Amino acid sequence: MILLVHAHPHPRQSVANRALLDAVRNLPGLTVQSLYDAYPDFDIDPAAERARLDAARLVIWQHPIHWYGAPALLKLWFEEVLSYGYAYGEGGTALHGKDCLWVATTGGPPDWYTPDGPHGHEFSAFAPAVKQTARFCGTNWLPPLVVHAAHHIGADGLAAQGAAYRKRLQDWIDTHG
Ligand SMILES: Cc1cc2nc3c(=O)[nH]c(=O)nc-3n(C[C@H](O)[C@H](O)[C@H](O)COP(=O)(O)O)c2cc1C
Repeated sequence: MILLVHAHPHPRQSVANRALLDAVRNLPGLTVQSLYDAYPDFDIDPAAERARLDAARLVIWQHPIHWYGAPALLKLWFEEVLSYGYAYGEGGTALHGKDCLWVATTGGPPDWYTPDGPHGHEFSAFAPAVKQTARFCGTNWLPPLVVHAAHHIGADGLAAQGAAYRKRLQDWIDTHG
């Protein structure tokens, strides 16, 4: 019922995304598709990915922010899986009405995401491309979960974010189950 598409270029070196995943992975009805484990050669199987999407009512895109957006393999997944006639265009209604949740972690703390900060913009300035990808495909864009300063909030901070993530998904399951 929930498809969690996880994109971390080095999953075994991950701290923050791993903590978030560990907090939710045993929820009932949740399937984790870890793209960099599944496709180390970037040779995505679009039909298999679409079959997973078809079975889901909530799609999660979870990844670290790399150069202000999604890691390359998730971008390629968008390009190859969300195709004309499937996700948009004539007959492209497969994702209509599904919910979509974006879960992103950043290295930068919130005050780096300001006009005068190192990243030059509010974090929300970097969200429209992924948000509009979801909306163009007819999904319902849920409020994102963004964990800033992922390597500075410590184990307790990550545990709190993981608990909040799990509660979001448990509430969704309770409402849609
Ligand atoms: C190639 C690369 C690019 C990155 N770009 C950004 C960025 O644009 N903005 C930012 O806040 N952090 C950036 N970071 C930091 C990561 O987002 C951060 O280390 C990650 O979210 C931590 O999660 P993890 O422990 O699961 O890897 C970048 C890290 C790497 C390796």
